[in-house]
Amino acid sequence: MDSKTILKKLDRIDDLPTLPFIAMEVNKMLQDYDISINKLTKTIEKDQAIVPKILKLVNSAFFGFRSKIGSISHAVVLLGFNTVRNAVVSISIIDTFSKNKEALEGFDVAEFWRHSLAVAVISRHLAEKTRLQLPDDSFTGGLLHDIGKIVLFQYFQDLFKKVWTSAKENNLSFYDAEKKEIPITHARIGGYLAKKWQLPESLTDAIKYHHALSKNANNLNLLMTVHVADIIANSFITDQKNKLDFSLIYPDAANLMKPQLETVSEWFPEVSEKIESACQFFDIGEGDLK
Ligand SMILES: [Fe+2]
Ligand SMILES: [Fe+2]
Repeated sequence: MDSKTILKKLDRIDDLPTLPFIAMEVNKMLQDYDISINKLTKTIEKDQAIVPKILKLVNSAFFGFRSKIGSISHAVVLLGFNTVRNAVVSISIIDTFSKNKEALEGFDVAEFWRHSLAVAVISRHLAEKTRLQLPDDSFTGGLLHDIGKIVLFQYFQDLFKKVWTSAKENNLSFYDAEKKEIPITHARIGGYLAKKWQLPESLTDAIKYHHALSKNANNLNLLMTVHVADIIANSFITDQKNKLDFSLIYPDAANLMKPQLETVSEWFPEVSEKIESACQFFDIGEGDLK
């Protein structure tokens, strides 16, 4: 199966995760210049199950707003359309993809989400400190960066197993094993889905290029933020005394984020607590996040 066939198969899978109706609607609305606060609020409020979750998220310490937000319209006025969309998309994606929690020879979906949330919280932190990028776009980019992995796991189990086994046997990263064993990567699958879901191009590119940075990406700063956060999460989640391997970081990104990269061990404990509360918020099981 070549990469085109895989993407075509993705197009034909009927039970392919779609973003919940509400998230699709909100994404579509945000492409429209005429959107009004009232219209967006009404659309979100159609889904009464999501309203309390959004309010809880926008008031949470790890998503991070200082004033108390009491209603969707208040959230839209105070935070803006884009942030509210990010909240809706984040909640919808986790709801949609964390149901299938079975493990496959060591791959555990809860563990996957812990990594994704770690990258989300670290990306947000980097964005706040560097001011290179909007913090909540960075959170959503981090949360979604590896989404192609879960799609590979759920819909192409043979390919997934091949990669998973090869990564373990040859001591490779998942991405390097993909390049060795199968004609597509989780980054490409994730980017493809993000486009299908009509997410903004900046997010689509952050997913698509997080392992192989492209200067042509729609928002290079967002992409670099997620890329660096991924590397930090991989090195520090299991052991905060680890040293960062700078050779893994795209040189422009390493330069731009130098002050943050040089002080990771100082700020990581605080960020780690936020990761923990994000996992609790989204009801992702306990893990080795110390
Ligand atoms: Fe990845
Ligand atoms: Fe990752």
